[in-house]
Amino acid sequence: MVAQAPSGKQPLPEMMTSIRFSSSGEVEIVDQLLLPHAVNWLKISTPEEAFDAIKTMKIRGAPAIASLAALSIRSHLSQASSTLPSFTSTKSVKDHLVPICDYLESSRPTAVNLGEAMERIRKLLESESGQSVITPEVLVEKVKVLCLNVFNEDLERCKEMGRIGAEWLWSKRGDGKKNGLKVITVCNTGSLATSGYGTAIGVITSLFETSHLDTAYYAQTTPYHQGSRLTSLELTTLQVPACMICDTMLGSLMQQEDIDAVIVGADRIVANGDTANKIGTYQAAVLAQRHGVPFMVVAPVATVDLSLQTGKQIHIEHRPAIEATLVRGRNVQTGELSVVRITPEGVGEGKEKWQQVYNPSFDVTPAELISCVVTERGVAERVKGKDSIDVASVC
Ligand code: MRU
Repeated sequence: MVAQAPSGKQPLPEMMTSIRFSSSGEVEIVDQLLLPHAVNWLKISTPEEAFDAIKTMKIRGAPAIASLAALSIRSHLSQASSTLPSFTSTKSVKDHLVPICDYLESSRPTAVNLGEAMERIRKLLESESGQSVITPEVLVEKVKVLCLNVFNEDLERCKEMGRIGAEWLWSKRGDGKKNGLKVITVCNTGSLATSGYGTAIGVITSLFETSHLDTAYYAQTTPYHQGSRLTSLELTTLQVPACMICDTMLGSLMQQEDIDAVIVGADRIVANGDTANKIGTYQAAVLAQRHGVPFMVVAPVATVDLSLQTGKQIHIEHRPAIEATLVRGRNVQTGELSVVRITPEGVGEGKEKWQQVYNPSFDVTPAELISCVVTERGVAERVKGKDSIDVASVC
């Protein structure tokens, strides 16, 4: 199926999204642990199921986990009233929902979109509870509308970021003789990580739609292989000219090819522009600086956390050690899906000094290595010679 394209743009095949509604209105997610080999939709009816799906990374990507958490609260409130506590006041609604927001927020600590979505719900509950002007039923309806908005508003802002980022990059292309740009991305920031279109992948898609893309190189992104499993699936579905590289090949690629930009998403951007994103982003930024390649961060305003001043304050999630010792895939002989250990037994599990594994899920790229931050409100460029970026100017 081919989606309608705005005039002057290439039509795009339909992209797979991470969240959908069943015909009866239930929330379903595609199990991203099984992609690209199997498409398995899971019903998510409760905050507990959402918590588990986020923690185990069946769904991942900063905007997508915020959307699922919010939609699970909406599903919770849509249950038969006999299964919900009886809300006798707006305060009782708040007292019931705030712990659920706190609980969902604790599922993954680094991506601020999740915390921001939960904070919007808590703020609504705070401002409306205790007021006699609205009934508990009306407050419940308001929360449900807000939860749906968290999901719905993501798609349009992704398209806006894609357009803004692609125009900025095309305008910087030097002598103007290039027919298409060569860019590098890491992790997965596309339709599976958002409500659709994506952030960094949104910029790449926009370049492609406007015939300004030569090749999108994407890093495998071990240990979870968001690049080789998910970005690969998205870019092949869209038929975007793309080339997978191993994480170890970033430097070599920048030496050998005339790369125009590294484009990444973000899980948290703090006031000075320091950015937490998937592990491996920092090394890509160091190499980009070494090779004079612009380094772009693309993320919605919801990913900006102005309450933190520098990246040192960001809480970096560490995943269980065992996860870095395993790979998931399809057996090329039997066709079966399996999880395979790539280390000797005990590594990542045992207590011996020789069985340790270091497994942070994210790293922090200092603003001094970032050329610009793109949000749906514009581009904040780092002024030459400065080691921070005025992120507030695009919030
Ligand atoms: O651990 P993940 O897969 O949730 O990490 C995802 C990333 O780091 C993405 O780059 C980020 O969330 C932006 S997604 C639009």
